[in-house]
Amino acid sequence: MGGMKIELANRIRELPPYLFAHIDALKNEERKKGRDLIDLGIGDPDLPTHPHIVEALAAAARDGRNHRYPSYVGMMEMRKAAASFMSARFGVSLDPVKEVICVIGSKEAIAHFPFAFVNPGDVVLCPDPGYPVYATLTRFAGGEPYFLPLRRSAGFLPDLDAVPAEVARRAKILWINYPNNPTAALAAPGFYEKVVAFAQKHDVIVASDLAYSEMYYESPPPSFLETPGAREVGIEFHSLSKTYNMTGWRVGWACGNEKLVAGLGQVKTNVDSGCFDAIQLAAVAALTGDQAAVAAQRAIYRERRDVLCGGLAQAGFDVLTPKASFYTLVANPKGLTSIELTAKLLTEAGVVATPATGFGPSGEGFVRLTVCADKARLAEAVERIKALRL
Ligand SMILES: Cc1ncc(COP(=O)(O)O)c(C=O)c1O
Repeated sequence: MGGMKIELANRIRELPPYLFAHIDALKNEERKKGRDLIDLGIGDPDLPTHPHIVEALAAAARDGRNHRYPSYVGMMEMRKAAASFMSARFGVSLDPVKEVICVIGSKEAIAHFPFAFVNPGDVVLCPDPGYPVYATLTRFAGGEPYFLPLRRSAGFLPDLDAVPAEVARRAKILWINYPNNPTAALAAPGFYEKVVAFAQKHDVIVASDLAYSEMYYESPPPSFLETPGAREVGIEFHSLSKTYNMTGWRVGWACGNEKLVAGLGQVKTNVDSGCFDAIQLAAVAALTGDQAAVAAQRAIYRERRDVLCGGLAQAGFDVLTPKASFYTLVANPKGLTSIELTAKLLTEAGVVATPATGFGPSGEGFVRLTVCADKARLAEAVERIKALRL
């Protein structure tokens, strides 16, 4: 009994401080008090998975052929469905055998990718603010993240010309993510061409995270792989989570350059045993079935966005009304940091927001709200925030 010293590994002890911890504690306190919180903090669709997808899962789950270990790279049907989707939606034609791999949600693939290509001392270029997995798993793989600030004045695009020559020389991967979390920004015309030129010049792999490709309010955002030359340098991570309200199902795909896809596959073969076949067959139903439900959902999110952004703008807030994703940045009123504003919204208005600093220091100046609540709740959130007279 006792005695044994249990010490966490350095990679865990050295994780950056978890900025949401303070907010989580406040949230729990408010909940304990019985406070009615409107949670606009998390990017998790409140709408259910479309019924034809649930039916496909139920049928596939009843079929004993789907109960055994799945293939590491995914069923042929799933990879073909993903390739057809890429072709129909983006005009990108892919070989489903060599250029597509099924993944257990895009987070899994994003997390494993650096292990295939990053050696100790290699640099990985990560957006700041950005999805935390890029940098954390770079560190786990022994690499060094180098943060590229995303500034409002630059449309939240990284300035690749500002990357020091010495950093570019050591860089192995560049992460890009448009539509972006947390800023909701889109890639401006010409940006992907610049990325390809940078990658070619410095021999850098481009890893494009397209988790929000189908959540748009105006024109559909492109795939990085549409860009001339992108296929030689890039891999793209896709997800069914947000498009089909399937965050809990854990399924997506990675596609692009054959060697990059194969490298990810080698890591996965050694770590996991693939995605449950029944879920893959449900994903096939999602990708190849009628997309009307996705369009209907976009209309719902657009209405919600208009309630939230319109209301806050009318109340005098500096709101960055998004053209895509379900995120909205709101600029902090004078004198408040992102954490302070988040705490105020929570304790005084019962509205849960996310400080954009939780995604990196360059998020200072903003809080992030989502439209993952119905119109009535969003309207109430606006009223409660207005009443604070910030
Ligand atoms: C930018 C971004 N990429 C990837 C993911 C992961 O999505 P999933 O693992 O559900 O496919 C998320 C989830 O919130 C995200 O915000």
